[in-house]
Amino acid sequence: MARGFRKTYRGLSLFLLCVLIIGMLGACGGDGQGSVSESEATAMPEVDGGASGGEGATGQEGVPDGENASASPEGGDVGDDGKTVVGATETVVGTTEPKPSEVPGVTHTNLKDAYANHFSVGVAINAWQLEDKKTMKVVKKHFNSVTMENAMKPTSLLDMEASGKAKDGEPKIRTQSLAYVLDLVQSHGLKLRGHTLVWHNQTPEWFFREGYVWEGDLVSKEVMLQRMESYIKQVMEYCQDNYPGLVYAWDVVNEGMADDGGYREEDSLWYQTVGSEEYIEKAFEYARKYAADGVKLFYNDYNEYATIKREYICELLRGLKDKGLVDGMGMQMHIDMSYPSISDVEDAIRAYSEIGLEIQLTEIDMHNPSDKDEDFLKQAVRYQLLFQMLLREMDGGTNITNVTFWGLSDVDTWLSNHKGEQSYPLLFDAKNKPKLAVEYLLQVINGDE
Ligand code: GLA
Repeated sequence: MARGFRKTYRGLSLFLLCVLIIGMLGACGGDGQGSVSESEATAMPEVDGGASGGEGATGQEGVPDGENASASPEGGDVGDDGKTVVGATETVVGTTEPKPSEVPGVTHTNLKDAYANHFSVGVAINAWQLEDKKTMKVVKKHFNSVTMENAMKPTSLLDMEASGKAKDGEPKIRTQSLAYVLDLVQSHGLKLRGHTLVWHNQTPEWFFREGYVWEGDLVSKEVMLQRMESYIKQVMEYCQDNYPGLVYAWDVVNEGMADDGGYREEDSLWYQTVGSEEYIEKAFEYARKYAADGVKLFYNDYNEYATIKREYICELLRGLKDKGLVDGMGMQMHIDMSYPSISDVEDAIRAYSEIGLEIQLTEIDMHNPSDKDEDFLKQAVRYQLLFQMLLREMDGGTNITNVTFWGLSDVDTWLSNHKGEQSYPLLFDAKNKPKLAVEYLLQVINGDE
């Protein structure tokens, strides 16, 4: 409302100014309409040539099957000509407007400061990147939160040999690996989303078996819940005791739901050993028990914007919320160039928010198989529409606290492997140079001030 009023007011002022000049000079060039469209009133950058081709994905293990499997084009927000965009806010963009830096009053040149009054801005990285100076320069310029793409998953932290030898029967974790990552994140002055404690994927099968060996039988429900509690306790307490305040949120359970709704059963050893979805509530119970004050507990999932899955997730979350076990919904947001629509995402945000939850967009990327300028423009516009919607939702009271991109550059993406074709889904190109989308995301804030 306030934004719309400002734009109208701006247009009106310019119109009156023009009338004044006509009055004074007796002539006025132009078409005489005297109004300024949103595209003229707000700055839009030129196409910068975009990213060059990437080399492929990260070779990450354990990518979930069927992710985005239900994605299907549904009509998007981006016009066919790549210039005219009709979205929820009726933004019209072109390629000839001035860059944000040419507009008086524009101040922000990095994402984390631009959005500081709204939410933290994060990026998923791998452990080796924490030691790469060039990468970290870009990370620290634009982001204030990181998620470890793999390094804090059970497969990275569980120690098979030590677990097998332990007299107390409890699983053992690799505290040195954890310390390595946490030291580096802390030394860079970044905050960390903990990802992830309980997941059917990237959790070694031996963890669910007698004696912590691959060939063992599956353990009983009681034993598995003891192992779960022990693992959650050890990981959370190690972080909190040694790096207080560093991890501000945990994805306690990742992807507990099946794509068609209902719980994930067949491909989840959590479900099978515990015998039901009870493992989800137990995970939150243990996480709440060991979480330090202020550390937020999230349920995280993909295709979370699809109506049926969304309703199942909401049902789960309402139960957990009633028991005081969950603080937030992590919306992974692996999207493509036209699906889902921004309004589907907005509906989902509202549905989760109405439960009384904090919202974080935890793994954003936008599958884009083309590195043509026109497609980078479409991508930039779609990212912009998404962020405009987030701000609009926040104006309406939705509590969005973090937005994290799933990788820094188009060469750091899992999607090229997953989709079986090259993907250019992220904000930075192969040389870690900002793509057009970065300018467009800055413009959301800069053009609004
Ligand atoms: C899921 C997981 C992430 C990551 C992606 C694929 O979304 O939550 O940790 O594995 O899949 O990269």
